[in-house]
Amino acid sequence: MAKHRITLIEGDGIGHEVIPAARRVLEAAGFDAEYIEAQAGYEYFLEHGTTTPEATYEAIEHSHATLFGAATSPTTKPAGFHGAIRHLRQKYGLYANVRPTKTRPVAGAFAGLDLVIVRENTQGLYVEQERLYNDTAIADVLITRAASAAIGKFAAQLAVQRRSHLTVVHKANVLPVTQGLFMNTVLDEAQKVPGLTTNTMIVDNAAMQLVRNPGQFDVLVMTNMFGDILSDLAAGLVGGLGIAASGNIGDQFGIFESVHGSAPDIAGQGVANPTATVLAAVLMLTHLGEHDLATKIDAAVNRALQEGPHTRDLGGTASTQEFTEALISYL
Ligand code: NAI
Ligand code: MG
Repeated sequence: MAKHRITLIEGDGIGHEVIPAARRVLEAAGFDAEYIEAQAGYEYFLEHGTTTPEATYEAIEHSHATLFGAATSPTTKPAGFHGAIRHLRQKYGLYANVRPTKTRPVAGAFAGLDLVIVRENTQGLYVEQERLYNDTAIADVLITRAASAAIGKFAAQLAVQRRSHLTVVHKANVLPVTQGLFMNTVLDEAQKVPGLTTNTMIVDNAAMQLVRNPGQFDVLVMTNMFGDILSDLAAGLVGGLGIAASGNIGDQFGIFESVHGSAPDIAGQGVANPTATVLAAVLMLTHLGEHDLATKIDAAVNRALQEGPHTRDLGGTASTQEFTEALISYL
């Protein structure tokens, strides 16, 4: 019997291209796993009227970890639609979205960067509670002390394993009740961790500081939408969405995915950069305690980024398959 059971969810768009590529890399690297292929996303919804079938829940619940491609969220929601990945984050209490930004050998990347954005993953504006009253639209923001404490503890513990500095990003100057509860609760948790230094930073300044002086950051923690936006910004500093990975982590389950979406502009063309999903698989291996394998694949990714061939997003002409084969040859 294989040592690990892994659920693979391609989802939509380039998910169909990057998940098979990541699986090939895992297999070539010698990861001892049995894979369950499961479905979720907008394409599934259009055929079956739901984004996530029961079989997918069962697969996730019977696996040690899940690797997710990407899921489309249309801007006009059909009745009964809910975003697949947001739904899974909430259903499984995957409260921590961990998004590392690290400089790799990519042309134009900001030198020497190594920071992690920890995004609260289940609350904030993304509880998707919107209402329309005639010409007035209202959305709820949910912040609880319990969820803020959980993410604060998680971020503080991650920071002390790194350079022991935590930045709490917030907008409590305008939203003292919701953002204030988040910020103060996170600071309370951070205080319980010896050796940790903290600072707070208002989110708009944090966006500017990330562009101008990102080296000042170690771990940044923030509410859901701020983390969504600033993690794409951080990805842009080191080469873009083609190489940005993330982990959705809860007490029981972990779902690992790229930061990017289904990229409809390039889907089906075989040109997507699979690096983001391969690096999500590396985060998954670390989560599973397979540190040697994680290091081995991470090193091969760096060599492939250094020596090429490069995919289009990084200025080259290689297809997903050509890049994947090169990466495998560097293992
Ligand atoms: P996106 O991340 O799909 O694409 C943004 C841009 O980056 C596009 O030009 C795309 O071609 C490029 N890009 C993304 N990944 C790439 C890769 N691996 N290789 C090369 N180029 C890549 O964001 P967009 O276009 O705003 O959203 C498309 C759909 O994806 C939407 O329905 C959105 O809701 C959904 N989405 C889903 C996410 C998820 O499943 N976690 C995250 C972000 C968006
Ligand atoms: Mg996003």
